[in-house]
Amino acid sequence: MNYFHIDLDYNINELKKVVSHGPWKIFDQGGYRFPCVQEMRLEYGYNYINDLSFLKNVPFDFKPNHVMFTKILPRVGPFVHRDFNRKCALTIPISNCEPINFYNDKQELEELVPYSKPIVVNLEHLHAVKNSTDEERIIFQISLYQPIQKLKNVYDKISTILA
Ligand SMILES: [Fe+2]
Repeated sequence: MNYFHIDLDYNINELKKVVSHGPWKIFDQGGYRFPCVQEMRLEYGYNYINDLSFLKNVPFDFKPNHVMFTKILPRVGPFVHRDFNRKCALTIPISNCEPINFYNDKQELEELVPYSKPIVVNLEHLHAVKNSTDEERIIFQISLYQPIQKLKNVYDKISTILA
């Protein structure tokens, strides 16, 4: 499974307000610099992120410091990769989000997933995003550390209870 959509009650204007002010920093994890330049808001955005009321509706366990906004600059990517430090992410598109691409082990395009609503993405599978627009591509994301099938089971169970 490469992804599944989730129903989440959130206010896109609240998210846009957060990304519209305050500094971003270059994404640099343990000295490993992504070939495609990304910027992120994590520490500085922490207080804002903490105040986002819809986080209480997220059905998965996560830590506050695994919540972030990330930005890919105009005309960057795609860079095909697997994430090395997390299994999945719950992501919400904010602006200029083209489809998420999944690839097989020969790096051939396998699936192209339109990205216009909240989605849980399997980052252990080869994937890439690109920004072919002239504007920044901005998303909100929460890193998750369980395999996608486990997260789907959790989500299905909660959806059944709430139905
Ligand atoms: Fe990734």
